[in-house]
Formats: sequence, C-alpha cells, structure tokens
Amino acid sequence: MLHPNRPALILAPMEGITDAPMRDLQGATGAFSYAVSEFLRVVAHPIPGRVFRREIPELLQGGKTTTGLPVQVQILGGDPDLMALSAMNAVQAGATGIDINFGCPAPTVNRHDGGATLLKYPDRIEAIVRSVRTAVPDSIPVSAKLRLGWEDVEDIYENAYRVVAGGASWLTIHARTRAQGYKPPVFWKPIGVVRESLPIPVVANGDIWKLDDFDRCRDETGCIHYMIGRSALSNPSLPYQIAERLHISGRPAPDWKWVDLLQELIRYTDLHRGPKIAQSPTRLKQWLKLAANFGNFTDFEAVKMARSATELLECLDIASQATPKFATCASVE
Ligand SMILES: Cc1cc2nc3c(=O)[nH]c(=O)nc-3n(C[C@H](O)[C@H](O)[C@H](O)COP(=O)(O)O)c2cc1C
Repeated sequence: MLHPNRPALILAPMEGITDAPMRDLQGATGAFSYAVSEFLRVVAHPIPGRVFRREIPELLQGGKTTTGLPVQVQILGGDPDLMALSAMNAVQAGATGIDINFGCPAPTVNRHDGGATLLKYPDRIEAIVRSVRTAVPDSIPVSAKLRLGWEDVEDIYENAYRVVAGGASWLTIHARTRAQGYKPPVFWKPIGVVRESLPIPVVANGDIWKLDDFDRCRDETGCIHYMIGRSALSNPSLPYQIAERLHISGRPAPDWKWVDLLQELIRYTDLHRGPKIAQSPTRLKQWLKLAANFGNFTDFEAVKMARSATELLECLDIASQATPKFATCASVE
C-alpha cells in the first residue's frame, strides 16, 4: 500500500463520514493512494470476519472500492491477543493491510482502554503492534496511527520508537495531542524529527486545509507521505492539487458544483444499500456543514432546514442558478 520511496496521499479514516460510499467517491478522484477504514473496536471478543465484511464491503472485492482505491482495515483496542485474533479474522475476510488506531480521543473509547489512552503506555503500544504483526502473514502490512501524545507533544518520540520496535511497516502521526482534541494549532515539526530518526516511512496528518498548508507541512516535516481527512470534503479540489504537487496524478479537478458532488454520493450510497432505501439528508448536510465551516460553501442557511435529500438538492440547485459562487467548489487558496 505504502512504498517507502513513492509519494502518497492517503484518505484519513473518519468514523461516520468516510464510509464505503464516501470512499468510492474519493477513490474516483484518482488522487489518493489508499484509504483507511473507519475504526472497528475490539472490546471483549475478537471481531468476526462477517463484521469486517459487513462494515468494509471492499473486502468482498479484493480490498478495493468500486472506483479502485485500496482500503486498509483499521482496528482499535487495548488487548494484544484480541487485537491479533481480530487482525487474523480481517485478513481471512479479505484485508490486504491492517492499521492500528492509537489516536481516537473519544471519552467512551478511551475509558474502555482503546485509542489515544494507550499513548500513556509505550510498552503496551509495542506489545499490541508486535502481537498483530506476528499474527498476520508477512505479506500483509501492519501500520499504526498515533497522536503526538496524551498531553505532552514529547511523548511522540518514545511511542514512535515503540511502533518500530513492534514491527510496524509505517507510522501515521496526527500532529496534536489527545488534550488538544481538534483545536488549532497543529504541531507538524515533531513529525519531521520522528521521520528523520525512524527507519520506516512516516505519514504526516492534521490541518492541511489548503495547498499553502500542504506546502508548509512539507517544509516542516520533509515527508513524502500525507494523509488528509476533513479537507477532502470541505475543499474537494485539494486532493487533486496535492496529488499534482506530489506527482501522483496530474488530473485537474473537475468543474464540480456541490450539487453534482452530493448526487455522486447518493449514487454510491444507492450502489451499496440499494436505491429503494430513501436517502436521508443528514449525510449531505454533514458534508456541507464541514464545507461551510472550513471550506468555500458560503450558505449553509439555505439548506439546513431541508427535510429530505431531494429537497436539499432542489435548494442547492435553485441557489446555484441564482449565485454561481454559492454552488461551485473552486479551490480555497
Ligand atoms: C468525525 C471524525 C472521525 C474520525 N474517525 C477516525 C477513525 O475512525 N480512525 C482514526 O484513526 N482517526 C479518525 N479521525 C481522525 C482523522 O483520521 C484525522 O487524523 C484528523 O481528522 C486530522 O486530520 P485532518 O485535519 O486532515 O482532518 C476522525 C476525525 C474526525 C473529524
């Protein structure tokens, strides 16, 4: 999935956002090298293969979206044995790569010994990575995703070393601590320090909202591997722009309007669930809200009361005829 010397742009896992239809849609850009699935939580028992196949339908089609984007399976949990058994089940279900989540800040997850809480225990990070690495065939890459620390940015140095000691093939770092949540600023510099000192590739992640952020992140980290999440939705031209910078793909961003993008999401959702199930407007509003907060969608007010997907698309269509600026998703520079 990730080649040490080949630049890569990765679609971040975002629980409740980057589900299979969204991964299909993002895969169609040709900008991403692979996507990471939303986390599946390992609690009291190993996750069975049927759950992996239900939650990550790409496993039934060679581990790729219908648009050809490889999908890595992400698991989260604090018990090395259960994590290893879950990873084995994932591989038997069709997984071609496993990522381990050590970054989730959600209190429920952290209270149950998963996600970012493990950042406080470097030895446990190492044990979990080693257990999963040993359990799955050598041909299956195992990676880890960390935040900089629980409260202290400096935690990253020990934790990153432990990920390597456990045998991971690469490491993704979200440039914040658990205590920082999603609040700006991000701290990209430590990622650069880790990258220079580790023998495995390091993927830089966090707050790359526009091309200018990407350039600064590249200057500060020296990475050739990047992951973006929220900005792939809020600024739909950005994946194309970054892919061009990284010489992954020179495909120009299509001249999408928001309404076209939402229609594409509906089409991919129909593909997965069948067209008979009525589309809820919730997912569409979630996307436009992200774009309104962080991107270039200027009038969330016009759609926020829509009661169905159809009504929402109608509102958007009317608005796009009235004010073209409202409806295009040109890049935010
Ligand atoms: C709603 C939401 C859900 C997320 N779910 C996951 C997840 O399932 N697994 C994970 O490793 N990170 C998850 N993240 C963190 C993202 O993968 C990413 O590290 C973070 O959003 C910073 O990147 P960005 O600034 O490019 O969005 C989530 C983030 C958000 C906003």
